[in-house]
Amino acid sequence: MSPVPKVRLSGGLEICRVLNGMWQVSGAHGEVDKARAVETMQAYVDAGLTSFDMADIYGPAEEIFGQFNSRLKSKPSGDAVPAVQGLTKYVPRAGPMDRKVVEKALQRSMTRMQVDSLDCVQFHWWDYSDKRYLDALGHLSDLQQEGLIRELALTNFDTQRLEEITNRGISISSNQVQYSVIDQRPAMKMEQFCLANNIQLLTYGTLAGGLLSERYLGKAEPTSRAELCTASLSKYKNMVDTWGGWSLFQDLLITLETVAKRHDCSLASVAMRYVLDRPAVGGVIVGCRLGVAGAGQHISDSLQSCSADLKLTAEDLSAIEAVTRRSRDLMVVIGDCGDEYRR
Ligand SMILES: NC(=O)c1ccc[n+]([C@@H]2O[C@H](COP(=O)([O-])OP(=O)(O)OC[C@H]3O[C@@H](n4cnc5c(N)ncnc54)[C@H](OP(=O)(O)O)[C@@H]3O)[C@@H](O)[C@H]2O)c1
Repeated sequence: MSPVPKVRLSGGLEICRVLNGMWQVSGAHGEVDKARAVETMQAYVDAGLTSFDMADIYGPAEEIFGQFNSRLKSKPSGDAVPAVQGLTKYVPRAGPMDRKVVEKALQRSMTRMQVDSLDCVQFHWWDYSDKRYLDALGHLSDLQQEGLIRELALTNFDTQRLEEITNRGISISSNQVQYSVIDQRPAMKMEQFCLANNIQLLTYGTLAGGLLSERYLGKAEPTSRAELCTASLSKYKNMVDTWGGWSLFQDLLITLETVAKRHDCSLASVAMRYVLDRPAVGGVIVGCRLGVAGAGQHISDSLQSCSADLKLTAEDLSAIEAVTRRSRDLMVVIGDCGDEYRR
């Protein structure tokens, strides 16, 4: 398999175009064996998938990354140590956003991740009517100038606020948003602004928690908590319902499977590639249930999704579009990127 393609963020950090998502070790997706999670990270790195996405609110995610990181660094000198990239998020509760508060939060992430500076901090804010997000971003920008942060980024900000922040002279590397064959809201406004301002989109929900895979093709609608057993499955099942419902979703899976067969790859690889090919998309984040049985089983699909051998054709794209155009307009029903967190 050829090397995993990379993208360079505006601050110079190179990350893989497919990133490993660590929300799945937060505890909301099944019990996590931390030691096993640390072990499993090695399989991803060995495959060339060296970029990990986490957050200060994802339970032990930063600590698991830290343990893995320190293990890598303690390898005997002479052993080639692959570079890993740790992208975290700063998700503060509402409150004063003075420099001390922001610095303390970053310090906590650095301690947990066992690093002296942060590769990338993606800032989230819950309530736009509370303008203290601008205070926080001002301090984050200063701390970036001082070398504590390499890339200053956002998550779940809409186009209007992204423009407001950029107009204040704060340089943003990326915005992490939901983007999938189902949820194509970023294509409406966000994408154009990002392209014009050298901002990369890092996407989540691209596999809808695993719903966008052969596993759900031809299956009856999952409704019970036992069937929707991870936070991710339940979140994106709601999204499917809002988008157009299970029957339309089955039509989409059938189409994606037809495309996948044409390219001799998995349905999930097609779903990832579809988003990877969108303008402004720097990378797709795939959730990894690192500490549970079977972790690592999806690595080959992730590699295939970004391989130069997989090229979606105009015929593939128009077949997909013939289904997605029958869905509801999520910009109208939900709003721009991230609005689902602010209703
Ligand atoms: N910024 C935000 O607000 C936000 C929100 C959500 C997520 N995220 C980030 O995005 C990451 C991704 O999370 P997500 O919730 O969006 O989940 P996702 O990536 O859409 O789905 C992850 C699940 O899909 C299944 N899967 C993965 N590869 C597959 C394949 N090739 N074939 C079949 N199934 C496959 C796995 O299920 P099994 O384990 O059951 O096999 C995995 O647990 C998170 O870890 C986090 O880093 C960010």
